[in-house]
Amino acid sequence: MIKDEVKIEIAKLKEKGIESTLAVVIVGDDPASRSYVNSKKKTCSEVGINSIEYALDSTTTQEDLENLIERLNQDPKINGILVQLPLPNGLDEARVCKKILPQKDVDGFHPMNVGMLTTGIDFEYSIKPCTPFGVIELLKRENIEIRGKHAVVIGRSNIVGKPLALLLLRENATVTICHSHTKNLKEICKTADILVAAVGKPKFVTADMVKEGAVVIDVGINRDETSKKIVGDVDFEVVKEVASYITPVPGGVGPMTVAMLMKNTLFATLLQNGLL
Ligand code: GUN
Repeated sequence: MIKDEVKIEIAKLKEKGIESTLAVVIVGDDPASRSYVNSKKKTCSEVGINSIEYALDSTTTQEDLENLIERLNQDPKINGILVQLPLPNGLDEARVCKKILPQKDVDGFHPMNVGMLTTGIDFEYSIKPCTPFGVIELLKRENIEIRGKHAVVIGRSNIVGKPLALLLLRENATVTICHSHTKNLKEICKTADILVAAVGKPKFVTADMVKEGAVVIDVGINRDETSKKIVGDVDFEVVKEVASYITPVPGGVGPMTVAMLMKNTLFATLLQNGLL
């Protein structure tokens, strides 16, 4: 388990007198964001990372938020800064992502980290976005070969689709990105050896879109309006009959994402202490 590995490394750092601390910033009272933040803080305490929450009112101004980030940037005791997205209307997410010091940007959203991921320059010193990084780690741990495979990613967000496509490309997959304007979506998906759904629509991927034996990774986290349950982007019950491997929701990519956040916070701590 990744969390256990991080826990061991954090304990080793403690023996050297080095602590690892994550600042978690949440603005407003979106229930989904609250639940993600709680789960991140809980996981921090499980692995021995300190977490400090900064819960700001939904009326917070851009200036106040950026001032807080500046303070956290300057604070040597803070190793990682995470601003939970989405931000309330009126706040500029791009400016917030740019404001966080790249070496404290545990989400990997700063243009510097994105640039390192895109070009491969100093790739090993860059911080990778947690969900895409988690998907790659999951495929590797399950011994699923990526090299030479046709990977189809549905979704082109900065958080998942785009960086995941780049990471898959780095692993030598042949990558196709599909999105809302894609023609023949079903036909393209059907050619995928590895199909990743990051759309945000329940049951978007149906059995007729999946090649027999394909690997299906469901990144979706949607709340079903009738059952109120959390469901993915894939119609799991039917697709599982066609796929050779499929991740469930809840329980697949979600926990992996939080585990990778822990790994990133450890990484940022090592980076800042000259230990890499
Ligand atoms: N909102 C949805 N996914 C993420 C993520 O990975 N990081 C942050 N900060 N916010 C998110």
